[in-house]
Amino acid sequence: MEFSIPKKMLMGVSTASMQIEGGQLDTNWNDWYRRGFIKDGTDPSVANDHWKYWREDTALMGEMGLQLYRFSVEWARLMPEPGLVDERAVAQYREELTALNEAGIRPLLTIHHFSNPMWFEKKGAFEKRENLSDYLDLVKLVVERFGDLCSDYITINEPNVYATNCYFFGAWPPGKTGVKETLAVMENLAYCHIKAYEMIHRLRKEMGYTDTMVGCANHLRVFAPKNEKNLWHRISAKLTSYLFQDALTKAMTLGDFPFPMRNYAHLPKGEYTDFIGLNYYSRSTVSGIGDGVRENCPKTDLDWEIYPQGLVDCARRLYEVLPRPIWVTENGTCDNNDRFRCRYLYDHLKVISQSDLPFERYYHWCFCDNFEWVEGNSSRFGLVSVDPETRARTVKKAGRFYSEVIQKGGVTKEIYQNYVADQRYDVR
Ligand code: BGC
Repeated sequence: MEFSIPKKMLMGVSTASMQIEGGQLDTNWNDWYRRGFIKDGTDPSVANDHWKYWREDTALMGEMGLQLYRFSVEWARLMPEPGLVDERAVAQYREELTALNEAGIRPLLTIHHFSNPMWFEKKGAFEKRENLSDYLDLVKLVVERFGDLCSDYITINEPNVYATNCYFFGAWPPGKTGVKETLAVMENLAYCHIKAYEMIHRLRKEMGYTDTMVGCANHLRVFAPKNEKNLWHRISAKLTSYLFQDALTKAMTLGDFPFPMRNYAHLPKGEYTDFIGLNYYSRSTVSGIGDGVRENCPKTDLDWEIYPQGLVDCARRLYEVLPRPIWVTENGTCDNNDRFRCRYLYDHLKVISQSDLPFERYYHWCFCDNFEWVEGNSSRFGLVSVDPETRARTVKKAGRFYSEVIQKGGVTKEIYQNYVADQRYDVR
C-alpha cells in the first residue's frame, strides 16, 4: 500500500446547481451570461443538463462507488417569485434525495452556492440587511421540505469568494468594486449563517431528528509572502489572509466579529458549526495589495499553484478556531486534457492520510465537467466528461482511479502504477 485512507473518512463528490442543472432561469448568472461576461461564451442554461439527467448521474455515482454527494438547490427554481414556491421543483429535489439515499450515497445540501434569483439580486441581494429574511425563508423551505430526507447542510458556499468576486473585484454579478459593500456583504453573510445554523437545528429538532449537521463551506487559501525576507511582503500576506478569510471564519464559527467586521445585530457568541467545511485549491503569493502566483512551481490549467500541503495547513487553521470533524467540502483541479488529475488527487489524499487531524469526509470537486462561472464550460474540473452534443457521460481515468481508491480503502502499489506513476504537473 502506498497509503490508506483514514478509517472513518467517507469519499464522494461535490457540485452546485447553477454549474450543472441547466434551464432557462431568471438568475444573476443567466443574466451575467446574457450581458456577455462569460469568457468562452458558454451558457449556464445548458451546463450538464443535470435537471434532465439526474437519474443517470445518480446511477453513475452509485456505479462509481461514491459514498457522498454534495449539491445545492437552485433558489430561483424553488422560489421563482418572492413568496411563490414551485411544487414541481420541490418534488424533483425530493426524488433526487430519495434516490441518493436508496443508492447509499449520503446527501449534503448546500442552501446557497453563488446564484441568486433576479428578484433578489435586483433589490440588492446580500448587500442590504432588509433582504436577509428572504434567504432565511429559503432556509426554512429547504428544511421543511427536505429535512426528512437529508440531515447534513451547508448554509452558504464560500462567503468570502462571493463577497470579493461580486463586490470587490467586480468580476461576478453584480460587478461592484467597493470596500464598504464587500464588508457589508461579509457581515450580512455571517449573520445569515448564524441565523440559518440555529434555524436548521431548531426545525429538524421539531421534526424529531437529532442527527443534524450544519456548517459552512469555507474557502481557504495559503497566503505566502512572495519574498520571505521582505517585511512588507510578510505583513501583506498576513493582512490579506486576515481580511479575506480569518476574520470572516471567526465571525461565522464563533459569533465573534473581529475588526473591521461589526456584529450589528448583537448576535451572541457561540459555536456555530458542527463540522469544519473546507474548500481548498491553492496557495497564493503576496507582495502587496492583491495576490499572485509563485513562479517555477506546479500549476493547474487555470495557473493556480498545486500545493497539497496547504490543504492540511488550512484545515488546521480552522481547527484551531473550533475543533470539529473536518469535511473537505471541495478540492480538485482544472486539468483540461486529463494529464495530471490522478496525481493531484493522489497528492492531496496522501497529505490527508498522513495528517493527525480528524478528516471525516472528502468531496472531490467536481463530478462532471461543468459551468465554471466566468470561465464557462471550457475549464474542466470533472471526474466525468459530458459530450456537448449527446450529453453522454464518460468516466475519465481520474474517475476510475477515484473509484478504485474508494473500493480498496487507499492507494495500492498497483493503483499507483496504473494511474499516477506517469502523470506529471506542468511547472511554470
Ligand atoms: C467554488 C466552485 C468552483 C470551484 C473551482 C470554488 O470556489 O465553490 O463553484 O467551481 O471553486 O473554481
